[in-house]
Amino acid sequence: MERTLAIIKPDGVVRKLVGTVIQRLEQEGIRVAGMKMIRLTKVQAKGFYKVHQDKPFFDSVTDFMSSGPCVVMVLEGEDVIAHYRKIMGATDFKKAAEGTIRRDFATDIEKNVVHGSDSPETAAFEIGYFFSAMEVG
Ligand code: TYD
Ligand code: MG
Repeated sequence: MERTLAIIKPDGVVRKLVGTVIQRLEQEGIRVAGMKMIRLTKVQAKGFYKVHQDKPFFDSVTDFMSSGPCVVMVLEGEDVIAHYRKIMGATDFKKAAEGTIRRDFATDIEKNVVHGSDSPETAAFEIGYFFSAMEVG
C-alpha cells in the first residue's frame, strides 16, 4: 500500500466540487486515510510549493492557494501516487485526458481544482507538511 497527498484547491471548494472529487477517488478504489479543511497563509503556500520558487508562476499560484480554504487528504491504495495523478489529469486541463477531474472541471492552468504528489519523496514531504501520524488512520 502506498500513500499520497491530495488537495482540493480553493476553486474546487468554492465551486462545491468536494463531494464529486472524493466520490471519484472512492469509486476508483482509493481510500481516504486522512482529511481536513485548512486555509493556507501565503507563507505556508510558499513552503508547500517551494520546488517551484524560481518559476514565473510561483507568486500567482501561492496567492491562489492562500485565497480560500482547501481540503487536504492523505489517500491510500495500490500504486496510488500514479493512480491518483491519472484520475486528476494533466496540469494543463486543455491537455488532460477525457474523464479526468481537471479536464472536466478546471478553468485555467492555475485554477485546476486538485493537487497530487508526483513521487514517493514528494508524497512523504507533502503528507508531513499537513498531517501528524495521529491524524492518519
Ligand atoms: P506543477 O507541479 O508543475 O503541476 P501539478 O499540479 O500537475 O503537479 O505545478 C504546480 C501548480 O502550479 C499547478 O497545479 C498549477 C500551477 N501552474 C501554473 O499556474 N502555471 C504553469 O505554467 C504551471 C506549470 C503550473
Ligand atoms: Mg506538482
